[in-house]
Amino acid sequence: MKRLFMQEVATRDGFQNEKTFIETEDKISLIDALSQCGYAKIEVTSFTSPKAIPALRDAEAVMAGIRRQPGVEYTVLVPNVRGAERALGCAINEANLVMSVSESHNRSNLRMTREQSFAQLREVIGVIGHGPVAINVSLSTVFGCPMQGDVPDDEVLGWVDRFAELGARGVTLCDTTGMAYPSQVQTLSQKVRERFPELQLTLHFHNTRGMALANTLGALQAGVDRFDASLGGLGGCPYAPGASGNVCMEDVAHMLELMGYDTGLDLNQILAASARLAGLIGHETPSQILKAGRRLDLHPVPEHVHTLSKQVSLTDLEKAQ
Ligand code: COA
Ligand code: ZN
Repeated sequence: MKRLFMQEVATRDGFQNEKTFIETEDKISLIDALSQCGYAKIEVTSFTSPKAIPALRDAEAVMAGIRRQPGVEYTVLVPNVRGAERALGCAINEANLVMSVSESHNRSNLRMTREQSFAQLREVIGVIGHGPVAINVSLSTVFGCPMQGDVPDDEVLGWVDRFAELGARGVTLCDTTGMAYPSQVQTLSQKVRERFPELQLTLHFHNTRGMALANTLGALQAGVDRFDASLGGLGGCPYAPGASGNVCMEDVAHMLELMGYDTGLDLNQILAASARLAGLIGHETPSQILKAGRRLDLHPVPEHVHTLSKQVSLTDLEKAQ
């Protein structure tokens, strides 16, 4: 059974996009529940400017309040040196650095050119050093930018190369606004795996055009074994036009389990955690499995079916006479 590593991003990618502020103690209680679900990694929050992402302005308090589960890595999004300094005070396992491979999206999201971002992230890596805190770099819009269109694979590989040179442990290929399609995902994932076999490679899909589960299969065909997904399918970048939810964790976990993969996850506990979301965010989530149940959660046969079968046999009898 092939082992896959599942990474929960709802409390970062999901909550950053919610209009209602989720109380710090509610965030902590949800993350504590998620820590019991079998994830490889949880992206807890982000150390961004509270003006840019007010929903996550309580990052320090959340990190201080959660109960860490051995075996689970706790990662946080870090956009700049200021964020790195704040995060380093919070006993993180990994810093997830972010930049976009598209010039327009980088300027919109991070208010810098890509070169300025790279220079800043190099500084961030310098501050974090090569000690116990691992570095992951999330590259946004690698499968297409909503303002600029396709980004050539070679350009994407060029950015991966520059961060690998700086000693990043991992890279995440992010489909920020759901522009990826399965064959494209397979091709780019294969190229990255071939060229950078040592890198921890994660794929991060948004379901904006309904292709996220199909894209997951595309990545699996290329040998990818690590995926971000979001409880309830929450998520979206406030600085990317048309961005919507990540691939839903319970939907992807349900599919992978049926296909015989070992996700390490406890789907019952994930569904229980997902059922709490609507109460926290004030609206329903796009989760399919929460609504429909698992494939073999069977329903009782309704009474009228028995009556119907009696009627049918009577008609059959009449015909026969
Ligand atoms: N933590 C806390 N405050 C920060 C900060 C950080 N990491 N980085 C910047 N700030 C504060 C500054 O202190 C300054 O505050 P002031 O106005 O009270 O003096 C203000 O934010 C502006 O700082 P500046 O250096 O000019 O940054 P900026 O406005 O160009 O913002 C980013 C740059 C990247 C930090 C900011 O745009 C950001 O956090 N964006 C969020 C990106 C994101 O998470 N997107 C979604 C995920 S992909
Ligand atoms: Zn995302």
